[in-house]
Amino acid sequence: ADEGMWFLMHIDRLNHRDMQKMGLQLTSEEIYSINHSSLKDAIVQFGGGCTAEIVSKDGLVLTNHHCGYGAIAELSTPEHDYLTNGFWARSKQEELKPKSLSVRFFVRMDDVSKRILSKVNDQMSEFEREQVINREIARIEQENSEGGKYVVSVKSFYNGNEYYYFVYQDYNDVRLVGTPPNSIGKFGGDTDNWEWPRHTGDFSLFRVYADREGNPAEYDENNVPLKPKYHLPVSLKGFQENDFAMILGYPGRTNRWMPAAGIDQNVNFAYPAWVEASKVGMDNMKKHMDQNQQVKLEYASKYAQVANYWKNRQGMIDALSKHQTAATKRAEESKFNQWANKKDNKPRFGKVIETINRYYELTNEKSRHDNYMMGMLRSSNFASLPYVLGRALLIYADGTDAKKAELKSSLKTEIASQYEKLYLPLEQDVLAAELNLYASKAKAGGLAPRVDSLSRANGGTFNNYIKQAFESSIFSSEEKLLTFLTNPQAEQIEQDPLFLLSSDLMTRYRYTAEEQKKEEANFQRAFRLMVEGMRKANPKKIYYPDANSTLRLTYGKITALPADPRNDAKENFYTTLKGTIAKYKPKDEEFDLPQRLIDLYKTKDFGRYADRAGYMPVNFLTNNDITGGNSGSPVINGKGELIGIAFDGNIEAMAGDVIFDQQLQRTIAVDIRYVLFIMDKFAGAKHLVDEMTLAE
Ligand code: ARG
Repeated sequence: ADEGMWFLMHIDRLNHRDMQKMGLQLTSEEIYSINHSSLKDAIVQFGGGCTAEIVSKDGLVLTNHHCGYGAIAELSTPEHDYLTNGFWARSKQEELKPKSLSVRFFVRMDDVSKRILSKVNDQMSEFEREQVINREIARIEQENSEGGKYVVSVKSFYNGNEYYYFVYQDYNDVRLVGTPPNSIGKFGGDTDNWEWPRHTGDFSLFRVYADREGNPAEYDENNVPLKPKYHLPVSLKGFQENDFAMILGYPGRTNRWMPAAGIDQNVNFAYPAWVEASKVGMDNMKKHMDQNQQVKLEYASKYAQVANYWKNRQGMIDALSKHQTAATKRAEESKFNQWANKKDNKPRFGKVIETINRYYELTNEKSRHDNYMMGMLRSSNFASLPYVLGRALLIYADGTDAKKAELKSSLKTEIASQYEKLYLPLEQDVLAAELNLYASKAKAGGLAPRVDSLSRANGGTFNNYIKQAFESSIFSSEEKLLTFLTNPQAEQIEQDPLFLLSSDLMTRYRYTAEEQKKEEANFQRAFRLMVEGMRKANPKKIYYPDANSTLRLTYGKITALPADPRNDAKENFYTTLKGTIAKYKPKDEEFDLPQRLIDLYKTKDFGRYADRAGYMPVNFLTNNDITGGNSGSPVINGKGELIGIAFDGNIEAMAGDVIFDQQLQRTIAVDIRYVLFIMDKFAGAKHLVDEMTLAE
């Protein structure tokens, strides 16, 4: 139990008995069936990077506030600021369509390992192997797409030792139905992010639309709410410690096989650079966001994403160091190495660990460099935008008149949509600050040549250079770009200082020396063999594959963390509204609260949403095994009813993506009773609660 992110098609074979013992009352067919509607039909991937669940027969979808955040910010203006004030559609007509937002339903999956691996052999180079596999993958995707009705994706598992395909159906008309204000949905901000005890109402509500036949359709007034195959019933009954809990969702990435040397590289080279570059980006964004509400809305989502992983990576450095994770892995590897060097195993596995270790040693400085650059690219639009847009403009400038006529309007639209959400003074500061940092810290990994020479010529600081570049570049003004479209001269792009700088950065970012490519291929092969070998060496152990944005189930129970004196509740597996109120700091950016919520607390007006013990529950803990991407996933009880929405992990267990910690790893979820209380009592949107199927 608890550790493991399992495939739905394997639960019957691997886990169902175990789950029943812990309190599951559903059959495995009720969870995953190809022929009948089942629980899996209520689980969707949301907006590409999160999870959500269908909770009504009219296509209502629940996910996290931080998953809807980008769409909510996009729909907000300083006059109609839904991010700050919340939003509740009183009828379907009032629901709001963001520019692009989709949900993905999971149809079925299957094992294609034999088919794919029969096409390769050990004599092939890694490159040939990849080509052959990609060709076969393309065939499988083609065969199962039913002429474009489905999206099919084949993915590798156990580092290239197994392959499965997944069939999906996408719906692109998804509309915002409701969201609490930031002061509830993001209560606690970055201070509380990744922390327990927690008091965040991290949820938002959307609806999926389809054409009249229920098929996916692009946005249209005449679209109707989707009638889903299945929707989750919602429990108002609450739960107790040790009750069964499972989560279905789309965990993004884990690296549980990561070797010791890889962990050392991350702790000492990669993550410190990432953390530092993120912070520089955040500080320079924030400076401008705090002065202007419009800018704040435009950059809210980008800022939150950078801040989220800034704290995560620092937490990983701390947890991996504190728990000496690399030493634990090194011990496993040395045991494996003994097995690998036994006579029969030696030809295939004897050099695996050595190859892996050499690779990391050779790439430490490269990884530091690449992470400074990644931090820059995550924060600065102008590190990449002049390059990307400039290339499109060059194609335009070099095209025939007919070609120009064909491209012009789409380029206009592209420019308008890009520049609508840009604030140039912010971009200028972020880029200069990131370049200053990169040029001073990433030298040993080989700076982008132009950055290197500019840094030398300008005494190491880019502020003046970037200021002048913004003055003369056509990329610092939408008008100049539009003028370019009427009278395109390729030289104007080719000599543009921001285009030249950005091209240099992007070329460097993508560059791998031939020597390195060889090392990478050797490493990839060794890593695949390590996983193969470790599974052979421990034939009785049941392994689960690393997360890679495919649908998984994790099961366990509701359970406390070792007591935390900061918590308000008697037991440390949940928090209450009393604790929320105790954290309240009027006018504070992170800990302010709406007066209405305070009033509801004072009058104890919790309705049917209170716990039997009288308190208003807010967040709770399970020992389920999740990671980023699971955000928005349903927490489901033994009867298959929704009891919460997962939204975070805890900082003590930030090493979780490379090693699962039985003692410390927890999922933080928002209690569904708090979600419904906010909708009904706080927002006056009882009609939405009434749409759901409640188990009281
Ligand atoms: N840590 C959460 C996750 O990665 C995101 C939380 C968003 N909230 C916030 N205060 N930034 O899933």
